[in-house]
Amino acid sequence: MRKKIAAANWKMNLSWKEGKELISQLIELSPTIPTAHQVIIAVPFPYLELAAQLVAAQPGYFISAQNCYHKAAGAYSGEVAASMLASVGIKYCIVGHSERREYQQETPEQLAAKLQLCFTHAITPIFCCGEPLSVREGGNPSEYVRSQLVESLSCLTSEQIAQLIIAYEPIWAIGTGKTASPEQAQEMHLAIRNYLTESYGSAIAQGIPILYGGSVKGSNAAAIFANPDIDGGLVGGASLNAVEFAAIIGALPQ
Ligand code: PGA
Repeated sequence: MRKKIAAANWKMNLSWKEGKELISQLIELSPTIPTAHQVIIAVPFPYLELAAQLVAAQPGYFISAQNCYHKAAGAYSGEVAASMLASVGIKYCIVGHSERREYQQETPEQLAAKLQLCFTHAITPIFCCGEPLSVREGGNPSEYVRSQLVESLSCLTSEQIAQLIIAYEPIWAIGTGKTASPEQAQEMHLAIRNYLTESYGSAIAQGIPILYGGSVKGSNAAAIFANPDIDGGLVGGASLNAVEFAAIIGALPQ
């Protein structure tokens, strides 16, 4: 059985004082995470170690980075290498969030390099994909997402692919309050899983958690997560509120 995951992405929000309170409240509201579930919280770089200490005694809670650089080391001021994340005990990293693809012009080749570096350092990447509104309205969203997967995953081995977490996040649903309908989301998740099955076989494809992201809230999480190919969510806005995010954790299928 693949894990069901509630992942928070704080993005560039919260002081450490606020973040610390949020994690403490969350642990109070959701103290016991079933073994089939995981709660992963992606925090800004300066908070990684502090946040990891806060959840260290909480089974089922993990801390993630929101990004890493596509080079191993060197004269890249301001960047953070996957090896550095590993050196402070971080085991997860978001790769290819649409905000970085758009604002930082991250390319598929750079994302492929980041994935390789994560695997080199035993970090599980949470690889994001998803179509913009123009493709949803006038194009072929599953073809678009399939190309994103082909472009960045093709260089990985089957063993590496088997370790991946994928997040399908339609760009038009991120931070907009517009959620994909559970049917739209399931259709895309199935298309992703079909691609994985064709490329890597059913055993690997069936083991990869595929999370939905885009305006997930406490009130819509259960309907989205109830679908067979949706294994939880990657949550931005609603993850900044402990009560909301605890409700999302509670909506993970048993
Ligand atoms: P949102 O963000 O939940 O605020 O739509 C999701 C994400 O970008 O991961």
